[in-house]
Amino acid sequence: MSNLQASNLFSVQDRVAVITGGGSGLGRIIARALAINGASKVFVLGRREDALHETVAQAPSGIVVPVQCDVTSKESLESAYSAVAAQTTHVDILFANSGIMGPMMRQTPKPDGSLPTLSEVRDELFSIPMEEFTKVMDVNVTGAYYTALAFLPLLEAANKRRPAPQVGVMTLPTAQVIFTSSIAGYNRKVPFSYAYNVSKAAVTHVVKTLSTNLLPYHIRVNGIAPGLYYSDMASQIFEDGGVAGGGVSEGSHPAALVPLTRSGSEEDFAGLVIWMSSASGGYVNGAMMLTDGGRISSLPSTY
Ligand SMILES: NC(=O)c1ccc[n+]([C@@H]2O[C@H](COP(=O)([O-])OP(=O)(O)OC[C@H]3O[C@@H](n4cnc5c(N)ncnc54)[C@H](OP(=O)(O)O)[C@@H]3O)[C@@H](O)[C@H]2O)c1
Repeated sequence: MSNLQASNLFSVQDRVAVITGGGSGLGRIIARALAINGASKVFVLGRREDALHETVAQAPSGIVVPVQCDVTSKESLESAYSAVAAQTTHVDILFANSGIMGPMMRQTPKPDGSLPTLSEVRDELFSIPMEEFTKVMDVNVTGAYYTALAFLPLLEAANKRRPAPQVGVMTLPTAQVIFTSSIAGYNRKVPFSYAYNVSKAAVTHVVKTLSTNLLPYHIRVNGIAPGLYYSDMASQIFEDGGVAGGGVSEGSHPAALVPLTRSGSEEDFAGLVIWMSSASGGYVNGAMMLTDGGRISSLPSTY
C-alpha cells in the first residue's frame, strides 16, 4: 500500500488522547472522531458527569473514558491526571478545549442604529461585575494553560515510546497539545464579549509561547480557531437567527455573517482534527488552524 493513501496519511490508529470539554460540542466531535477511527483510548474531561457519559454512549464501546475535572482547579487537574495515568502509560495528543463565553459585554447600537452615548456605553459595560470577566479568563486562559502543564509527563512518555529513526523513513509524530482558540481572538470587530475575545487572543498567544518553549522537549503545540459551529455555547446565535439543523447546509446563515452561508459541520471539524492528530499532521508546530468558512474576512461590527 502506498504511503500516500489516505488511510495511511490520516491514520490515528492506537493514539491516546485527552480532551477537556469532551462532554459536549466540539470536544465531543473530537472524541467521537478519534474513537471511530481507531484511537485506543480517549479520555474526556469536564465537570458534568452526565455529559461525559453521553459522549461515551455516542462512541464505539470501551474507547472513551470519562474523567470528571474542573480545569480552573489545580487539585482537580492533578486528580484527573492521576486517573488518566492509572489507565495509560502515555498521551499522544492533549486537547485543551474547555471554554466558556461568559456574559455578553458589547456596546449595542440603539434600535434606530444610532450610536449610544459614551456614558451609555460606559454604563452598559461597567455594570458587568469584574468577577464575570475574570471567570472567563480563569477557564479559557488559566485553565487551558494549566491543563497543558498538568499533562506534560504523559506527553513526554509518548515521545519516549517512539521508535528510533530510520534513514529514509518518515519518523512518527511527536506528542502534541492542541488548544481550541477562536476567530474571536483575532479581529477587533468580532462581537460576543470583551472578556471572551481577549481570552481567545491570549489562548492564541499561549500556543505561540508554549510551542516555542517546548521545542527542545519535542512536544508540539498548535491551535484551532473555529468560526461558527453549533454547540451549547453557540446555540443562542442559531436560535436568534431561526437556524435549524445546526446550520450546516448552505443558505442557513446570511453571507454577511458567514460568507459560505453555513456553519461548520462535525465533518469539517472531525476532518481537521484527524489530520492534525495523524502522521501527516506531524510537521505542524506553533500553528493556528482557521476553520470559519471565511467569517473572519467579513465580520460585521455587531451580531
Ligand atoms: N462553537 C463555536 O462556534 C466555537 C467557536 C470558536 C471557539 N469555540 C471554542 O470551542 C471550545 C468548545 O466549545 P463548544 O463550542 O464545544 O461549546 P460547549 O459545548 O459549551 O463546550 C464547552 C465545554 O467546556 C467545558 N467546561 C466549561 N468550563 C469548564 C471547567 N471549569 N472545567 C472543565 N471543563 C469546562 C464544558 O463542560 P462542563 O460544563 O461539563 O465542565 C463543555 O463541555 C471552547 O473553547 C470555545 O470557546 C467554539
